[in-house]
Amino acid sequence: MDGFLLTYDGFDPRTEGLREALTSTGNGYLCTRGAAEWEDADGVHYPGTYAHGGYNRETTMMGGLPVLNEDLVNLPNWLVLQVRVEGEDAIRFDDVELLGYRHEYDIRHATVLRRLRFRDHAGRETTLTSRRFVSMADAHHAGIEWTLVPENWSGHVEVISALDSRVTNSGVPRYRQLEGRHLNPVSPRTFGPEVIALKAETRQSNIYISQATRTRVFQGGEQLPATRTLYQMEDYIQQVLAFDVRQGEATRVEKMVAFYTSRDPAVSDTLVRAARSAARHSDFAGASERHGAAWEELWRTCDVGASGNEQVQLLLRLHIAHLLQVCSPHTADLDAGMPARGLNGEAYRGHVFWDEIYAFPFFNVRLPEVTRGLLMYRYRRIGEARAAAREAGFRGAMFPWQSGSEGVEETQRVHLNPLSGRWEPDLSRNQRHVNAAIFFNIWNYFQATSDYAFLESYGAEMMLDIARFWASIAHFNSARERYEIHGVMGPDEFHEKYPGAQQGGLRNNAYTNVMVAWLCDIAAKLPSLLSASSAEGLRARLGIGDDELALWQDMSRRMFVPFDSGGIISQFEGWDELEELDWDAYRAKYENIQRLDRILRAEGDDPDRYKIAKQADTVMLFFLFSDEELREIFERLGYDYGSDTAARNIAYYDQRTSHGSTLSFVTHAGVLAALDPESSWERFLVALRSDVDDIQGGTTQEGIHMGVMAGTLEVVQRYYAGTQIRDGVLYFTPRLPSGLDGLSFPLQFRETPLLVTLGGGQLTVAVHPDGASHPIRAGIPGDVRELCPGDRAVFGLA
Ligand code: BGC
Repeated sequence: MDGFLLTYDGFDPRTEGLREALTSTGNGYLCTRGAAEWEDADGVHYPGTYAHGGYNRETTMMGGLPVLNEDLVNLPNWLVLQVRVEGEDAIRFDDVELLGYRHEYDIRHATVLRRLRFRDHAGRETTLTSRRFVSMADAHHAGIEWTLVPENWSGHVEVISALDSRVTNSGVPRYRQLEGRHLNPVSPRTFGPEVIALKAETRQSNIYISQATRTRVFQGGEQLPATRTLYQMEDYIQQVLAFDVRQGEATRVEKMVAFYTSRDPAVSDTLVRAARSAARHSDFAGASERHGAAWEELWRTCDVGASGNEQVQLLLRLHIAHLLQVCSPHTADLDAGMPARGLNGEAYRGHVFWDEIYAFPFFNVRLPEVTRGLLMYRYRRIGEARAAAREAGFRGAMFPWQSGSEGVEETQRVHLNPLSGRWEPDLSRNQRHVNAAIFFNIWNYFQATSDYAFLESYGAEMMLDIARFWASIAHFNSARERYEIHGVMGPDEFHEKYPGAQQGGLRNNAYTNVMVAWLCDIAAKLPSLLSASSAEGLRARLGIGDDELALWQDMSRRMFVPFDSGGIISQFEGWDELEELDWDAYRAKYENIQRLDRILRAEGDDPDRYKIAKQADTVMLFFLFSDEELREIFERLGYDYGSDTAARNIAYYDQRTSHGSTLSFVTHAGVLAALDPESSWERFLVALRSDVDDIQGGTTQEGIHMGVMAGTLEVVQRYYAGTQIRDGVLYFTPRLPSGLDGLSFPLQFRETPLLVTLGGGQLTVAVHPDGASHPIRAGIPGDVRELCPGDRAVFGLA
């Protein structure tokens, strides 16, 4: 299985947390870290399990003040499987001598494997192979298979198979001062001789979570009648299976698991539901086969073939697998948003930010139902977004920067600077640009799918209410004759306010203002795209008169964009007055200056004072829009947009960006693809390796970076293959980097499946014979063709 295996040889306690995050297995319903089944959470190991929507709020008293946080709860540990030989303590890494050890993640079938040979203190040598998966075929199922071979001994063993709800959220050292207890026990129970089950409840949100497991032992293909002993407490249940093993002979243990929560449809008592499901579970081989088949089907739709560099190929596939483990077709039916750090760890508490803007382009043209489902997560929270706008004195819908269960603002008011050990104010909630991202995402989903039903029932309502919010937060400056937006911040989190200011927010963040100019233009035209009756109904329901449409139209022509004296777009008004940082001095002084904000604050200085950016902010504009689109927007605004505008601005900000969010490497890789292919490729490789190499020194073990993983795929699709949808046409402007020989990937455009192949100076677009009956329009600029099912178009590339 070349190109589909992530492997680690030898056990290393220092990187075990990272490996666990990267070998997590999930199915878009739940995901479990790749921890060894026989280890507890102890600083090296962290067996976390997370399910979409499994949030709980707790208050921590800090310095006499209540601090409220909502966390994605670490669910009961279903992994527990341990072995005791001859009545001795259960085997752990610390107690044995490892003679051989390999930890693998099979990317193709999302299966985690461990093969170990160990010698215990009595000199017994044993081989243990563990395989496990969370089923992509049956969203509520998972399975573990152990194969035990005593190499130089025969004797008596006991296998402990347990479910454990005595877990807390303690995976992120920075959060350890905060309340991490989220579960209350409900009850353990047995169902027949083989099935044990456990029910717990989240303490505040009252979600019931039940798990049930059936453990069996096999020798020589036959099930062993092992003796079973039960032990149960209110928050823990275990079964011990005792049997004899013989030297050189393999014994297989199968632990099949079922999960249900009270958020699932078609469930009465989750405990009974899980137990029944575990009892009916097929054996490991059958379940694993169905799981494998479900993944094969996904790869047929989602694979991205990159020839000429095996590492790149492997990592692209790793990213695809992780995206799908968090957001799969199973997710589409849930009430789930895309957590920025996946379901792989506890960083950012499972919150949903704007990162989906990097991921939706992948789903839009492969599994559009996933985007639709994730957009519905926003729609179901529009009531809170409206209330938030109203409470802040605005109109329309103001979605929060960090979103969790209910769609209220979940951004913390303080956060810990690990460099100084101090809790510092967090003003990042002023990133209202998330509301432009949601608008952008709905529009682009619609461009890729022409899903009018979604637009008419949900999408347009969100778009109009978002436009209304922007129109109300903006004000007209009659001296400038321009609309301005104050009190917000862009994606760059180094600048939350002006130097010395008490209040958060900045004036006229250029990224935000240009996004607003763009979206106001679309919002003003939106009713005319809908059927007359839905446009009328929606306008009546939201009370949108002609004057409001005219206002949006006017804003699309007269938003203010700040420029410096040299004609560079200023990240925000006042940027020009900030000081330049002595970058060389900081690079010399610190090994890594990505998080300059923490460094400066720990030095008693203030990032607000400098022309520095954590991540692409203004540069995002060049990432999200093509040069033609930006020219159109700027010209409509009455600003110059020259042939060198993109190059000059990108170069300017590149010199002042520390890339403290790895999203920034993705953005810069994208925008440099046309301007400086070599530099683009360098950034792309950094982004591609950022999680596997944990380049931020410890963040990946707290959860993968979904936006970055997805972003690398977006750089390939949008920039290297040059895929863009505009005016109902699928365009390709390929810029194959010299590091690759070719690309090939399936796409789905307006219900039509295609295969795109790039290489050897040619682009081929083949329409699947079973495509939708209507033709599609695709091609390269200057050569757009109409393609029907079965057609194959070849374009020569200059
Ligand atoms: C970045 C944000 C991002 C968030 C979640 C932050 O470090 O600055 O842009 O949305 O992480 O991934």
